[in-house]
Amino acid sequence: MLSPMVQIPAWSPSLSMGNDAIDRQHKVLFKLGRQLVGLLENSDADIQAFHMAINDFAESAREHFGAEEKVLARNACPTLVDHKARHDAYIDVLASTLSHNILTYRDRITLVEMVVDLVSTHVIEIDLPAREFMKDERV
Ligand SMILES: [Fe+2]
Ligand SMILES: [Fe+2]
Repeated sequence: MLSPMVQIPAWSPSLSMGNDAIDRQHKVLFKLGRQLVGLLENSDADIQAFHMAINDFAESAREHFGAEEKVLARNACPTLVDHKARHDAYIDVLASTLSHNILTYRDRITLVEMVVDLVSTHVIEIDLPAREFMKDERV
């Protein structure tokens, strides 16, 4: 059991990027992140359940990052290179955890930190400031 219990916030309209597709993806990541943390806090869950949850989260993150980078590129976002580097580093850490056959306590802590980092820090500190470059094609 990890302690203290981590609360993953719910997506809220204040986090809207003004782009329905991006918002939908963010909502899915918040949901999958909450499920993953719930699993990590349950010491009885088996490694396969962990791997499935990590994989779902990582796949959604990878898809979302690619879609977001396309939108940012189309709107000529000046911070795209740094933003993409953060996405890439994020996926690298998730992939390395997925390659472990046993999740150590340290792995679990890292995964919880990764989920918190994405739904709190990244969306708020990196995505939101780029909001004006998140407009979809119809705008
Ligand atoms: Fe994002
Ligand atoms: Fe992002």
